[in-house]
Amino acid sequence: MPTAFAPDQKIEALREELRHHEHLYYVLDAPEISDAEYDALMNRLKKLEEEHPELVTADSPTQRVGGKPRDGFAKMGHSRPMLSLDNAYSEEELRAWDQRVRSGLPASEKVSYVCELKLDGLSMALQYGPGAKGAAHLERGLTRGDGTTGEDVTTNVRTIRSVPLSVAAKRLEAAGLPQSFEVRGEVVLPQAAFAKMNEERVAAGMAPAVNPRNAAAGTIRTLEPNIVAQRRLDFYAYFLLRDGETLLASHTETLDALRAAGFRVNTHAKTVSSIDEAVQFIAKAEQLRESLGYEIDGVVIKVDATAQQRRLGFTGKAPRWAIAYKFAARAAVTKLNDVLFQVGRTGKVTPVAALEPVFVGGTTVSRATLHNADEIARLGVKIGDCVKVERGGDVIPKIVEVVADKEHGRDTREIVFPQNCPVCGSELMRVEGEVDWRCVNSSCPARVREELLHWAARGVMNIEGLGDAMVAQLLGQSAVLEDASSQAGDEEEAAPVVSRTALIHTIDDLYRLTREDLLGLERVGEKTADALLAEIERSKKAGLARVLLGLGIRFVGERTAQLLAEQFGSMEALQAASAEELEAVNEVGPKVAQAIAEFFAVEKNRQLVKDLAALGLTMTAEKRVVGTALAGMTFVLTGTLPTLTRDEAKGKIEAAGGKVSGSVSKKTDFVVAGGEAGSKLEKAEQLGVKVLDERGLLAMLG
Ligand code: IVH
Repeated sequence: MPTAFAPDQKIEALREELRHHEHLYYVLDAPEISDAEYDALMNRLKKLEEEHPELVTADSPTQRVGGKPRDGFAKMGHSRPMLSLDNAYSEEELRAWDQRVRSGLPASEKVSYVCELKLDGLSMALQYGPGAKGAAHLERGLTRGDGTTGEDVTTNVRTIRSVPLSVAAKRLEAAGLPQSFEVRGEVVLPQAAFAKMNEERVAAGMAPAVNPRNAAAGTIRTLEPNIVAQRRLDFYAYFLLRDGETLLASHTETLDALRAAGFRVNTHAKTVSSIDEAVQFIAKAEQLRESLGYEIDGVVIKVDATAQQRRLGFTGKAPRWAIAYKFAARAAVTKLNDVLFQVGRTGKVTPVAALEPVFVGGTTVSRATLHNADEIARLGVKIGDCVKVERGGDVIPKIVEVVADKEHGRDTREIVFPQNCPVCGSELMRVEGEVDWRCVNSSCPARVREELLHWAARGVMNIEGLGDAMVAQLLGQSAVLEDASSQAGDEEEAAPVVSRTALIHTIDDLYRLTREDLLGLERVGEKTADALLAEIERSKKAGLARVLLGLGIRFVGERTAQLLAEQFGSMEALQAASAEELEAVNEVGPKVAQAIAEFFAVEKNRQLVKDLAALGLTMTAEKRVVGTALAGMTFVLTGTLPTLTRDEAKGKIEAAGGKVSGSVSKKTDFVVAGGEAGSKLEKAEQLGVKVLDERGLLAMLG
């Protein structure tokens, strides 16, 4: 007779299976099952854990996203200081370091080095301690901080999928590790995740992050673990300590042990027996740099043997046994030929440098951003100047300084920031306190063009075939609008922006396009026309969240659009919502509420939305259904719950139809008490109100 497994056995087996697949996927990049199969396993586990809330443990794969840290991040001392590295900027400096290492060791000793990529992220210390069944358990994640004291960012580190929440006894044994140890390494934001994050920021009206390192550092210090989980940070391990001491006899063994324990170790590490080989490794790393998918800024070379590391010791702030070879900054000097003024979707005017094409860090650069009028003043740059261009982590080149060569000052012209929109001619405005000048004409062809491109973009309405060139044709514009705003050749007439009759003027016109319209355009055959029409038709069903995102309301990015759509269920309901109702939506603050109100206050926007609805676009979304499990019950929350924050507990209760009140009275049905619960708990006891802990609440929620 088949034996039925007890729930705890089923749960543990599922966890093991999920951990195995997470390791294959996130650490080894070698998945064996599809995402859908993985999701199915996860859902089974979630369901079982919901049925048995008493069996939920902190290291379950379902528990990566936990509660918010309440009052920011606590400060914590490091087990041993997190030092930085000395740098070498040339082969010569590297060889001098090799000499110093050798002279610090007995002449008879051979020296091996480990070469690793210098990952451009932020360093992190992960502390593990004894868990159930001989496993090690992630206890704490600390940032470097000032090197002596870091910040406890455990809640956020837990969301990084390549960080094991626990290391099973079997793995510890295979790796030769005790149950308590510390792993140090680098948190990085892969370039693709960085690009996605910036797209979202820009869509939400925020400034893009400058580079993946800053973005990773900012993300890890976010007080919203949900957001951190979405950002897809990665963690590469490169150190293993116990009680602040290196545990194993060599760095090579350390990396192997980390790998065996289930940590992600960068695959491009190599043990070498001479500095010549290290130099070769550096050359290879420089070639690899463009294709890695994450940023590196050099190579770290470490003495392999732990005994030799000990003998060499430390200078004030850095070990003598390691050095960072830094790649030359990806910079080049070229001439500023002209400045163009680009008008963005929100009307913001950005000065863009037109450069004499120059090769920087693997690509030819002919454009660089000058950000705004203040930046031009700060740089003191003029047209005709020689400038230094750098490609930062974000790949968007920027001008960092004016190079004062012998020719400096000859044949140069001031950059004149226009007073009128270079595209539509309306007067530019600047809000007091802001640096940006804006074109406030919402019909400005440049703005309409950007609006359409945003509407069609991936992640928004996702209309394939509606790119730069097609939009320009539909608007009857020349493909490169910015050329019209060039400052070059003052005497020449600027090329007219609108050269042909426009087929569309606003977003809704897209949905009125006919086959004949499209066939009349240049280089558009029947196939292209039909494919585009089919895509436009398909986009009608994208749903309310996408439409909201597509409208480009300030501060309304993907997530906010989704939340608003779920909450209100229809465009009408959203439009009719008061500021209070808007702010009642989780994560929507007064700034967003105001932006939404301002958007709908404009008659043209209201008309657009009406027209889109009349043209058949879906303006509804599945409303979040409110459950009935707790219908009619009133709860009061007090104290610190072990895993849920106040907001989360409140959200769950309300989603199940219950009410949350601030004070205990006879009408209160339940008080949910966590650690350090105070007077409310006393009052509940006095009044005979039932008291639950978190588990009890979760059980009621079913
Ligand atoms: S070893 C005591 N290895 O570079 C030695 N650091 O400039 C400490 N980094 O703070 C670090 N990749 O954040 C080491 N493979 C690597 C690294 C690496 C990046 C960072 C780390 C450190 C900084 C020092």
